[in-house]
Amino acid sequence: MTQFSESELTEAVVKSFDNTPSPRAKFLLQELVKSLHDYVSKTGLTFEEWDYAIDFLTRTGQKCTNTRQEFILLSDVLGVSMLVDAVNHRDRGGATETTVLGPFYVGEHKVAAHGTDISPHNLTGEKMFVQSRVTDLNGKPLANVPVDVWHADDDGFYDSQKPNYDEIGASARARFITDDDGRFFFRTILPCSYPIPTDGPVGEMIMQTSRHPMRPAHVHFLVNAKGYEPLITHVFIGGDKYLDSDVVFGVKDELIAKVEKRTDPAMPDGGKAAAPWHLMTYEFHLKPGNGLAPKPLGVKVAEHA
Ligand code: BEZ
Ligand code: FE
Repeated sequence: MTQFSESELTEAVVKSFDNTPSPRAKFLLQELVKSLHDYVSKTGLTFEEWDYAIDFLTRTGQKCTNTRQEFILLSDVLGVSMLVDAVNHRDRGGATETTVLGPFYVGEHKVAAHGTDISPHNLTGEKMFVQSRVTDLNGKPLANVPVDVWHADDDGFYDSQKPNYDEIGASARARFITDDDGRFFFRTILPCSYPIPTDGPVGEMIMQTSRHPMRPAHVHFLVNAKGYEPLITHVFIGGDKYLDSDVVFGVKDELIAKVEKRTDPAMPDGGKAAAPWHLMTYEFHLKPGNGLAPKPLGVKVAEHA
């Protein structure tokens, strides 16, 4: 056949993938064609709209660099990242909930001693003490587990967003290794809510559609224990005004911590507190697994020997 009706066209394109050697690739491509064709038919997409979409995607690709992934950001604000996360973590069985990795994980972090102050270089912000523990699903402590943590500074920027990152190095970012009781603790500042990068096509879309670009305050954690599924998650600061409207849809109730404001003169490890400070307490529960999968797009989770 050389001329197709709308439905015959969809069928013909689906059929053109019939000989794809990988059954999974064949399935993914054929379903993609069906969904795309359905979208075009249903919306009656105009040439101008099609042109706009092509230009938008082109600019999204052009905005990507070694340290900036505008396509992942697009996936995040469309809720696709959280949906992929959801279908890959359907049965948590008591394990800590997962959420988006985000674009500011830069690979494995440098190990810091328990109690280290990882406050951002600009040193502004109210002090926070984070105490945490990693266990299995039965509450058995997991020792010697690397835990990467990272968060934004008091102005809402990650160290890796700074133009002089290569010179000044990491801040508000480190790796802690759990002790025999599965515990680790550190000092930092209370993070604040912050906007996702708005200087690209994704930000343009957010602004032009009258959405706000904010994420509620959080600390990122990547817990990677041998024999368990890697856990990629955040702990959100309870009370943040953006918890109900996170621009990337990443909040889950279980991940919201009650962060207490404290005035005691000493922090839990006995160190002096010069001013009122905040205490975050959170336990992570890991699910047995091979330590490798599932891992989200863009993240290299270290393989265990
Ligand atoms: C983040 O939390 O770092 C983040 C996640 C998704 C998009 C932008 C930022
Ligand atoms: Fe973040």
